[in-house]
Amino acid sequence: SSGEEKPEDYLFKIVLIGDSAVGKSNLLARFARNEFNPNSKSTIGVEFQTQKMEIKGKEVKAQIWDTAGQERFRAVTSAYYRGAVGALVVYDISRRQTFDSIGRWLNELHTHSDMNVVTILVGNKSDLEDAREVSSSEGKSVAEAQGLFFMETSARDSSNVTAAFQTVVKEIY
Ligand code: GTP
Ligand code: MG
Repeated sequence: SSGEEKPEDYLFKIVLIGDSAVGKSNLLARFARNEFNPNSKSTIGVEFQTQKMEIKGKEVKAQIWDTAGQERFRAVTSAYYRGAVGALVVYDISRRQTFDSIGRWLNELHTHSDMNVVTILVGNKSDLEDAREVSSSEGKSVAEAQGLFFMETSARDSSNVTAAFQTVVKEIY
């Protein structure tokens, strides 16, 4: 009947970006299937998963896209970003180099998608506290300077994984 909102009215494309091995694929696996793979291989090409979520009592679907951090394994850049309304820009708190790459990933995101794509900066592997190379406050201040949401997550122990995706979807919605 007319005027009724169907669940498929709310399908949001969200992209995962960040250097290789920061844990993008495991964040998605944890979020969509509650799985973690300690020996996962680099993503080749592009994969996506659609996850139903409930936001303010409405069912929405997040279609989350995942590609490789390494140039040679990546999906076609423009196609990857096309239509994205949300992004998780991921680094590994135990490898500073991956944090230093954030600016480059944000440049690429803004080159290929709408400026107001809802973006969260994600410091993953918060379980590796003993190996930490990037403090929470550093992550937070970069996020503030760039106008991004910020969260530290662990795909391994699940901490904040759902919250990170939900933060983006809620803001889009
Ligand atoms: P590319 O596909 O190459 O871009 O890498 P990716 O960002 O998808 O990384 P992936 O999810 O494949 O994870 C890389 C490695 O880090 C794997 O060995 C994972 O098991 C590990 N890993 C991912 N997330 C976490 C985490 O939260 N904590 C810890 N300790 N290890 C993690
Ligand atoms: Mg991957």
